Amino acid sequence: MADLVFSPYDFYDDVDSDPYPVYARLREEAPVYRNEELDFWALSRHEDVVAAVRDPRRFSSVNGPLLDASVWGPEARRALSFIAMDPPHHTRMRGLVSRAFTPRRVAELEPHIRDVARRHIEAALLKGEVDFVTDIAAKIPTDVISELVGVPEPDRAELRRLADLALHREGGGREITPEGLTALIELIGHFTDLVSDRRQKTRDDMVSALLDARVEGDRLTDEEVVAFLHLLVGAGNETTTNLLGNAVYWAWRYPDQKALAFEGRVSEWVEETLRYDTAAPTLLRTVSCDVELHGVEIPSESRILLLPGAANRDPAAFPEPDRYDMEREPGPLISFGSGPHFCLGASLARLEARVTLEEFIAQATNFDLDMSQAGRRQSPYIRGFAKLPATVVPR
Ligand code: HEM
Repeated sequence: MADLVFSPYDFYDDVDSDPYPVYARLREEAPVYRNEELDFWALSRHEDVVAAVRDPRRFSSVNGPLLDASVWGPEARRALSFIAMDPPHHTRMRGLVSRAFTPRRVAELEPHIRDVARRHIEAALLKGEVDFVTDIAAKIPTDVISELVGVPEPDRAELRRLADLALHREGGGREITPEGLTALIELIGHFTDLVSDRRQKTRDDMVSALLDARVEGDRLTDEEVVAFLHLLVGAGNETTTNLLGNAVYWAWRYPDQKALAFEGRVSEWVEETLRYDTAAPTLLRTVSCDVELHGVEIPSESRILLLPGAANRDPAAFPEPDRYDMEREPGPLISFGSGPHFCLGASLARLEARVTLEEFIAQATNFDLDMSQAGRRQSPYIRGFAKLPATVVPR
């Protein structure tokens, strides 16, 4: 049998790239895997991934969730805010924005999201040639999160472009590209302008609320608010876009499942896609003490990659995990993490995905994809498609 080699940088070059056979070998043969060259360990079994994300004392987030050397380290929180912090600091910072994401507040957004989705889908279908990702899936989360945060309409497309560039890794490249770095700096510049604008004129939006808030008696600095916004816009856009693209792709691959989707099993369509091919397949932690697991000693300060993508296909957690099946019983999916960093936007992501797909099947009777023209998102952190040309049959 071939040597077992795993790197998250290996799985996005071509449209058919498939990490799941390697994930299966990791779970079976090397539940504590070591990659010397890139200096990380990896956990792939469901119970290990869940235990690690729920144990921030030993599996710390202080060096951030990204593997690239240039964005890993104690400075990560300057760009990524509380996703790169541990409790109790994390808890206080997260508390400031969590009120905007309670299930009730999120449910109130449904009419707005439906309106946004309907408009983008109508416009795409009128155009005739549809790219499901660029015309539909990429636009909806950008509009929704921008609205929530208070990004002015004319700036939204540009922010999306810059955020995409910052996560782009060229052909298996392991570092941010020079264009990506420039984009990141420009993006931070946009958020800085937004913050100084709200410092001058308070409005009824999230930026003004953050500028007013106090943590341990202190106000947040402008830099801290900028990092917050960067985290929200980064985490809220890409992931949901790719969930949508993956949903359409897998339904297309399995026509019996597509038929179920068109019969209206939309929540199930979303849940099974989250499990089967999650948009956020890797999470990074740093171990804060020596940890022994499955007879392997992981030294303190090691970088450890947790693989929700592998955990969601673990037969110990899901029966017949390699079958894409909207009719399966709900299971313990780990696509949104767990523990203190459990995805703040999970209800929002589910709502956006459900509403978009509902509006899609309300306006279409069928669709076909042209995979010869499709392309994957070039990033080890995001699994999904950058281009998904489709022929859609309108109702
Ligand atoms: C399909 C869509 C999404 C997926 C798969 C996803 C996945 C995740 C995961 C796995 C984490 C945990 C990170 C960790 O443990 O280090 C996370 C955290 C987070 N997500 Fe999401 N996410 C999605 C959509 C969203 C949306 C729409 C927002 C909107 C605001 C969002 C905001 C956040 C934030 C702020 C965090 C950091 C939470 C913390 O550190 O306490 N996510 N997400």
